[in-house]
Amino acid sequence: MASLTIRKLDEAIKAELRLRAARHGRSVEDEVRVILRQAAEGPAAPAPSSHPTPAAHRSRPTSTTTNSVTLIIGGGIAAYKALDLIRRLKERHMDVRCVLTRAAQQFVTPLAASALSHERCYTDLFDAGSEFDAGHIRLARDCDLIVVAPATADLMAKTAQGHADDLASAILLATNKPILLAPAMNPLMWNNPATRRNVAQLIRDGIVTIGPNAGEMAEAGEAGVGRMAEPTEIAIAAERILRPPQAQPLAGQRVLITAGPTHEPIDPVRYIANRSSGKQGFAIAAAAQAAGADVTLVSGPVDLDDPVGVNVKHVESAREMLAQVEAALPTDIAIFAAAVADWRVASEGTQKLKKTGAGIPPLQLTENPDILATISKLRDNRPPLVIGFAAETEHLIDNAKAKFARKGCDWIVANDVSPATGVMGGDRNTVHLLTREADGTVNVESWPVMTKDEVATTLIERIASHVKDTST
Ligand code: C5P
Repeated sequence: MASLTIRKLDEAIKAELRLRAARHGRSVEDEVRVILRQAAEGPAAPAPSSHPTPAAHRSRPTSTTTNSVTLIIGGGIAAYKALDLIRRLKERHMDVRCVLTRAAQQFVTPLAASALSHERCYTDLFDAGSEFDAGHIRLARDCDLIVVAPATADLMAKTAQGHADDLASAILLATNKPILLAPAMNPLMWNNPATRRNVAQLIRDGIVTIGPNAGEMAEAGEAGVGRMAEPTEIAIAAERILRPPQAQPLAGQRVLITAGPTHEPIDPVRYIANRSSGKQGFAIAAAAQAAGADVTLVSGPVDLDDPVGVNVKHVESAREMLAQVEAALPTDIAIFAAAVADWRVASEGTQKLKKTGAGIPPLQLTENPDILATISKLRDNRPPLVIGFAAETEHLIDNAKAKFARKGCDWIVANDVSPATGVMGGDRNTVHLLTREADGTVNVESWPVMTKDEVATTLIERIASHVKDTST
């Protein structure tokens, strides 16, 4: 991937970038990232409608949120473990930018840290090659967390005293982000009253520490408390700071979700399909899982990774989907987001259909089972809350209302999937939630344009408050 050096840009562009960055309260580098991300996501979404914004969806991180970490590697024998720490942070969706102290470079090289982090590595307070206008300030602030591993006795002493005579200590003094220290040193140094005082001061200052652990030291025959915490422990501690465990309003609830298209075979090699990507259903499954639910996701063929912690059943056809849905019952909530094919070929060929002189083979279609209607109308085992989707290309609300009456579900999420909206396969969605008032009248609540993750989080929050209301 090519890298971009802001310093080398045209002066007028740099001035414009600085203005934009200042206006948005971001660094120039972050502003460039935002511009690139928006460009990659395609044309801006239509302006939000005048309908009220569901309060809870704004800037809510999802399970795939990426955070950025400035990792300061101090000069100790444990520095070699910091290289593994880079990996452990990255596998938890954290971008890592490394800073090596002069002493750290005696143990590991900037090249190794750059290779593992896929980012430039920083070593000098006054770095003419840095694309940042004031390198230590940017490194201190253009991140979500600063991790120091290993945190040596010297680095901790300097931090406790507020020194800033090298890049690492200057970053630690200049930051307004949380700091996680993983101390590592000889047990005598760790127990020295000076270190004890410094650690106590750092903790009073709000800095979080992890470790050190007890064990053998690098020095032959020495053991005690002073070994750096293991990289995985540090990464978990970092994740806990960045993504504190969320409230789990759906704990104990079983949620069944369908997603994606179905493939209806014509013969062993051909099938009827549709353009559903499965993204909305997968996002709902991830949001339900994050809310503590026990989630089963029945998915048609999609090009998505299984959401972590979700029980995923992969199917091809509508009939297979229905079988897996029935096998997953009973559940407390069922959300049918799949774009199930309405028809299949009446008699599927056992061999590949051949071109013959007899002309084009007629494809006799027959109706597929309607999974949503089937489950909504169950006498036994009907989930207490059944939610359907209505993907329409015209007369959205009227068609969704008609579907609501026909299918027998409790809520319907209606969305416009006409090609101009880019909803099919895209990352955004504009939905309307249809519910019934106590007197049977249909209530339509229109949500503004959101990402599919935000739609999922908002829907799960609505479900959680419904579950709370109905259980009290
Ligand atoms: O009738 P239509 O396909 O527009 O209905 C959409 C809703 O019904 C979605 O919730 C979809 O998952 C569900 N559905 C289903 N089985 C079908 C067709 C649709 O569960 N065969």
